[in-house]
Amino acid sequence: MYILKQYEMGDIMDKLVVKGGCKLKGEVNISSAKNSVLPIIAASILSDSKCIIDNAPMLEDVFVISDVLSSIGTKINIDKDNEKIIIDSSDVIDKEPDSELVRKMRASFLIMGSMLAKFGRFKISLPGGCNIGTRPIDLHLKGLTCLGAEINVAHGIVEAKATKLVGGKIYLDFPSVGATENILIAASLADGETIIENAAAEPEIADLANFLKKMGAEIEGEGTGTIKIVGVKSLKGITYKPIFDRIEAGTFMIAAAITKSKIKINGINEEHLKPVFAKLTEMGVIMEVDNNGITIDGNAELRPVDIKTMPYPGFPTDMQAQMMSLLSCIKGTSMITETVFENRFMHVSELKRMGAEIKIDGRNAVIKGVERLTGADVKATDLRAGAALILAGLAADGVTTISDLYHIDRGYVCIEKKFKKLSADIERIKE
Ligand code: UD1
Repeated sequence: MYILKQYEMGDIMDKLVVKGGCKLKGEVNISSAKNSVLPIIAASILSDSKCIIDNAPMLEDVFVISDVLSSIGTKINIDKDNEKIIIDSSDVIDKEPDSELVRKMRASFLIMGSMLAKFGRFKISLPGGCNIGTRPIDLHLKGLTCLGAEINVAHGIVEAKATKLVGGKIYLDFPSVGATENILIAASLADGETIIENAAAEPEIADLANFLKKMGAEIEGEGTGTIKIVGVKSLKGITYKPIFDRIEAGTFMIAAAITKSKIKINGINEEHLKPVFAKLTEMGVIMEVDNNGITIDGNAELRPVDIKTMPYPGFPTDMQAQMMSLLSCIKGTSMITETVFENRFMHVSELKRMGAEIKIDGRNAVIKGVERLTGADVKATDLRAGAALILAGLAADGVTTISDLYHIDRGYVCIEKKFKKLSADIERIKE
């Protein structure tokens, strides 16, 4: 654990103490998208020369994937002060990545496509990640098989080999983000043309495609349901700045709404946040977009809404928990339907500790808004559930203490520092 050791973010026992009731004010800068940077780092090993990622988010998940690559010989230099990651893959070797690291994070699986394209084989442990459902990998394997890989899964290990990767036509039964990324990466160096149908259209996929295109790949249709890739012989090292994190931006938008505050959020792409804008507008939140970002004013009587999570451009599942905190504080009844993951309501029991009135029936949650939430001791059960609890704590009467903070550190850069800068009463404490 080379890089993680060097840049330990927080201790596993760290807690956040949030005193509710403060109005937020000022400006916050959004970091680059974690979900773009992870596949981009994985894809960077396709080049033998250096890739540099500018404006990289200094996050636990980013350090984990960097360590996974270091375990196969990639030289990675993390320049934390200048937010740069320099990746030199000239000495990458064909071996199994460190299984302890791979199990730390589901996104480790994104190196399957790169290793297959680079070495014609890979052997890797089944990955871990947020506990939000069974999260199978059948679609990743189906896609790579279509490109000519022979794959065997046994005893928690996936092994694949391909004498030669050849382009093919792949229909995904569900537009899986990770499967689309793995296929996109592998197909970039395959022989001939690959077409992915029912591909995921998330902005992070388009960002990965733009990164690969700058390296020399031939890709069309990224950001839509049909992506065409014509394999090239080699890819070159480049410098790249990923897109802003739409989920971090959305989390701060809800922070303004839940605390009835007016703040400015710098670094957003309105297009990527369409469903979040639509729902907040329906609720009565006032938002004004300018060149640089958005000013959001939550100081209004907000209305309840119904939300259904869907693949992009639908409402993002990664914003579902945060939205539930907000709806818990809005008079009237709202409903959230989670269609992407089958077990993504773990924050409900924690929100109920804070006085929220929520009933779950299968994939539906019915939320009856309460006058005020009350502070409580709660636990972050996954990354976005943790963010939802911070938001609830900011709006609640009294003090909320959030444990298992490491989930939040996986995906939010300096979250308590950013909230403090907005005048929130929030502290990280070490037990
Ligand atoms: C990515 C994001 C995650 C986000 C999710 C959905 C990263 C690093 N993570 O996760 O933040 O919540 O997209 O927007 O980008 N599925 C299968 N078989 C497969 C693959 C997926 O059945 O082979 C199912 C999953 O169980 C899940 C659904 O498809 O129910 C969506 O998963 P997917 O889009 O693959 O999510 P991830 O890439 O894991």
